[in-house]
Amino acid sequence: MSEWRRPLEIADHEMREFISELSMIEREKQYLLPSFHLAQEIFGWVPPVAVEKIADFLRVPLSEVYATLTAYSELRIAPDEKDYWFICTGVACEMKGAQNIVQQLADADEFKVRDIDCQFLCSLAPVCVDDSGGLHGRVEVSELISGIRESQTGGE
Ligand code: FES
Repeated sequence: MSEWRRPLEIADHEMREFISELSMIEREKQYLLPSFHLAQEIFGWVPPVAVEKIADFLRVPLSEVYATLTAYSELRIAPDEKDYWFICTGVACEMKGAQNIVQQLADADEFKVRDIDCQFLCSLAPVCVDDSGGLHGRVEVSELISGIRESQTGGE
């Protein structure tokens, strides 16, 4: 079963791997950049929790760590959400089975999907936002699976 995560959550196994790998780096300020690259390799971006771990481990002030991090354009300070579909899990959508949709898509283990807060289309619950930012209302799992697959294959 795949793990369902909110966009900014970090999986425990990724954090354990990061801490383990980070501990093998020399505790010198000059290793900031390799530490950022390590985080980005594991998480796909450099999340705030990794920044704090790096600052603690290398004994560099957090402000200095952020200053360095934001100076390099190749380092991502936000997750890449390209190709993701988002399922609204606000109250109205929850009442219309959004969590069930989320779970079924997560169980399929092949879709890039995440949950989001209310999209203010509650009368159309459950609602999803596709990978192009398009909003869809009264969605059903089968329809979503077709849409996502079609999107992933470029409509072939
Ligand atoms: S709760 Fe989903 S659109 Fe409002």
